Amino acid sequence: MTKNTVTVTDNATGKSVDFPVRESVHGPSVLEIGSLYKEFGYFTYDPAFTSTASCQSKITYIDGENGVLLHRGYPIEQLAERSSFLEVAHLLVHRTLPKKSNLDEFRATIKKHMLLNQGILNFFNGFHYDAHPMAMLTAVVSSLSAFYHDRIDISDAYHREQIAIRIIAKMASIAAAAYKHMCGHPVVYPSNQLSYCGNLLNMLFSMPTEQYEVNPIAEKALDQLFILHADHEQNASTSTVRMAGSTGTNPFAAIASGCAALWGPSHGGANESVINMLNEIGSVDNIQKYIDKAKDPNDPFRLMGFGHRVYKSFDPRAKIIRQTCHEVLEALGINDAKLELAMRLEEIALQDEYFVERNLYPNVDFYSGLIYKALGIPTQFFTVMFAIGRTPGWVAQWMEMLADPEQRISRPRQTYRGPSQRDYVEEFQRG
Ligand code: CMC
Repeated sequence: MTKNTVTVTDNATGKSVDFPVRESVHGPSVLEIGSLYKEFGYFTYDPAFTSTASCQSKITYIDGENGVLLHRGYPIEQLAERSSFLEVAHLLVHRTLPKKSNLDEFRATIKKHMLLNQGILNFFNGFHYDAHPMAMLTAVVSSLSAFYHDRIDISDAYHREQIAIRIIAKMASIAAAAYKHMCGHPVVYPSNQLSYCGNLLNMLFSMPTEQYEVNPIAEKALDQLFILHADHEQNASTSTVRMAGSTGTNPFAAIASGCAALWGPSHGGANESVINMLNEIGSVDNIQKYIDKAKDPNDPFRLMGFGHRVYKSFDPRAKIIRQTCHEVLEALGINDAKLELAMRLEEIALQDEYFVERNLYPNVDFYSGLIYKALGIPTQFFTVMFAIGRTPGWVAQWMEMLADPEQRISRPRQTYRGPSQRDYVEEFQRG
């Protein structure tokens, strides 16, 4: 079979070179330009990587034009309805939907590793009570590397699998410990009797003073939210994990760098910003004012929870979350005026020419905060929840990168626009 090629001609010299096109299973093929510099002496310039595939991957596929999201080929709608978070984690990390016995074993192993070394809990004492939980999460996930370093061989596939289990398990416990630190309450240890999400809820909300029953509606809603967040191919935090991991760094340090990237309001921090924005808007009467602010090129305000780099029709996760949000609030008997406000805001924005022209639709973060809020999770903590959900994706992508013979240390190039070479000027001679 002849491989398709694209011919690049340098008009200055007349030199032409054929570059091979590598086909994708779904979505655009990619032009292999690794030898471009050698052939022409040029780099490509693509700020924010809008047209650059940084890796090949078999994990997740997104069709942004048609609102499609597949994990290992399975549509997100089917996974959200019929699977569970740990089954999806298994799918991402081990490539397959497990048989019942394998899933039971996977679940049991994760539970077994949810307990944190007491030494890790000591780190929390160093944080002020009002430290942002993402700051605590990032720091404490990173400090896991101090507990698991010398005995880790990242070139060994078995070791990588063990790391995946540990980080998925411990992320929930670290998150819950951060929450307890914020509240000034004692840490609650995980229980092998509870599910992953049941454990998380119990570690967050139970107190030594009284009996706590995990609400099955909350448990199910959380499980579905985590499925919807589990992976999203080469987004900013995942690319950060891959880039840090490409240096061969400790995997927990690489995952911590993903937490740091996720925190930003343009990425996972948007769920927190959505609720803050809804609070600021306050009432339906103020919506138009904020829509106008979002449209004003001189105003930095953006409609949080709207727009996406890849989705240009709708975010399939947002569609599911919107429905779940209604169901959860109804099942829990919560009448949240913010839901009404969010729906009206969505309606008005979707009819506005500015948002229509730019293909700006609600994304995963627009409604997720309302569900977290209904479950009693404080706004500052929303991005931590996103991080727990995204952990299987981060670690699966890290594992895939290390196993890929084409991957080397990530090292982008640049186009230098600073001063041209000049001589050092002694201090007394500077103007
Ligand atoms: N409100 C108002 N205008 C917007 C928004 C918004 N939320 N998003 C994009 N635009 C405008 C933007 O100003 C630009 O307009 P113009 O062409 O006139 O300059 C145009 O739409 C294209 O935007 P962009 O910034 O070039 O798009 P991007 O792909 O670089 O950014 C984004 C994507 C998600 C960062 C951006 O849409 C945004 O800031 N949204 C709000 C934050 C948010 O909800 N983030 C969560 C993303 S989904 C979950 C996740 O990844 O974690």
